[in-house]
Amino acid sequence: ALAVAALQDLAGLRVAISAGGTREPIDPVRFLGNRSSGRQGVALAAEAAARGAEVVLVAAHIDPAVRAAATHPSIRVLDVGTAAELSTAMKDAAATADVVIMAAAVADYRPAVASDHKLTKEEGVLTRIDLVENEDVVAALAVTRADGHAPDGQTIVAFAAETLRDAEQRRERARRKRERKGVDLLAVNLADAEHGFERAENAVEVIGVDGAVVATSSGTKRQVAGAIWNSVLAAR
Ligand code: CTP
Ligand code: CA
Repeated sequence: ALAVAALQDLAGLRVAISAGGTREPIDPVRFLGNRSSGRQGVALAAEAAARGAEVVLVAAHIDPAVRAAATHPSIRVLDVGTAAELSTAMKDAAATADVVIMAAAVADYRPAVASDHKLTKEEGVLTRIDLVENEDVVAALAVTRADGHAPDGQTIVAFAAETLRDAEQRRERARRKRERKGVDLLAVNLADAEHGFERAENAVEVIGVDGAVVATSSGTKRQVAGAIWNSVLAAR
């Protein structure tokens, strides 16, 4: 059989990718979660490894059938559960990474207290859960880089899932988000019935440092991953 090697244009790069969705415990059997499947992050990891990179994949609750696509000798998977665990793992991986991609859906809030036992109606009906804000992990990684505590020339990519239907409004929000977080690239995807969460297909626009749309891609999550890596290379 004839084996055709993929272009090795990411050879020598160390990359850290977060994927999936965090779960914030309410009690031992309940959590606050989100609909991220981890497919886009897994596709970014698989694409990076195929193109020669060394990958650390920080995986938050990714179904085994989904993460199977990230089986590769150059991909090391670290499992995490909560936003706090994801933060620790990503800070560690980012300390030696040339490229950081935050594809995970990180919970913005967590319950202020997680009960150590299952809450029951006998104890009283639950009518509210107090929340506290989680750290913005990608913004913290950008601050670490700005402080000079990251590898030279590190590239940081964030994602944003938006449900705004109007493309220009979506772009404007994405531009503000990129600036607020201090990242180089922000990949915006439309989270609707056909695209984004829990879907095989995705459609993204990549916003660059000057606010310009540096790439547009739609198709399978692997195709979109290819376009995002091309944008990363072009930005370095
Ligand atoms: N993110 C993060 N830490 C958080 C929340 C989000 O690192 N606590 C990252 C995500 O992984 C993603 C990017 O920030 O790469 C954008 O996430 P998003 O939820 O769109 O941004 P938020 O700032 O949380 O804004 P919003 O109010 O729209 O949810
Ligand atoms: Ca959020």
